[in-house]
Amino acid sequence: MTERPKLEWDDENVPFAPQFEDTYYSKAGGLGETRYVFLQGNKLPDRWSSGKPFTIAELGFGTGLNFLTTVQLFLSLPVRERPKLTYVSFELYPIGAADITKALSQWPELTQLKDKLLDAWQLKSGWNEIVIGGVTLKLGIGDAREMLGALSTQIDAWYLDGFNPARNPELWGKDLMYAVSGKTAAGGTFGTYTAAGWVRRNLQGAGFEVSRIKGYGTKRQMMVGQKPTI
Ligand SMILES: C[S@@+](CC[C@H](N)C(=O)[O-])C[C@H]1O[C@@H](n2cnc3c(N)ncnc32)[C@H](O)[C@@H]1O
Repeated sequence: MTERPKLEWDDENVPFAPQFEDTYYSKAGGLGETRYVFLQGNKLPDRWSSGKPFTIAELGFGTGLNFLTTVQLFLSLPVRERPKLTYVSFELYPIGAADITKALSQWPELTQLKDKLLDAWQLKSGWNEIVIGGVTLKLGIGDAREMLGALSTQIDAWYLDGFNPARNPELWGKDLMYAVSGKTAAGGTFGTYTAAGWVRRNLQGAGFEVSRIKGYGTKRQMMVGQKPTI
């Protein structure tokens, strides 16, 4: 197993990674920002209505907030409207079960799903497969830059959620964005909270059509993008 991250906590149990000088999710409403940036940013659940199998991928898994919010949305739909959903994610510094519980404690609505996730939280380096609420999580424990190349699945929607690009540049670099684009289905999309110019250029250079849109809450901007449908 890779090393556990060193965490610091504020009064509301928001985890902060001193190594990257950033929090795992927004202090100003992590759950709301996840729904806005990643779910709405990728037009979910509307794109699930075709009934075709759908694959989401995320850079990095962190507290599991994005994953569990996605499962929650999936389960809110009538069974006949749920696609076969796969969620691929990568994490180099997996958080321990007690810290995940603490990090998600402000959202009791996620507790049941979180408990199911933690029942299966015995991770090994490399690929781990866990099914929660009918959604298959394929969690790659290791460096996304090394693991992404071997991914055989085509991705329909990306959650680009590394720490602040200025502090975690390796998760937003040119080569990785090319790899992300190379694994994306025609018409596939991404959402990300950042609007950093060099990240936008990397994503455009890799083949995405990128738009800057209004960010969550008081944030001025974020980005969404799409691979051309050809
Ligand atoms: C902002 S946090 C992600 C928050 C997460 N999506 C959630 O729902 O809680 C960024 C994550 O990327 C991980 N990370 C940083 N560099 C990485 C790398 N090279 N490969 C894989 N994961 C990485 C960090 O350990 C951290 O968990």
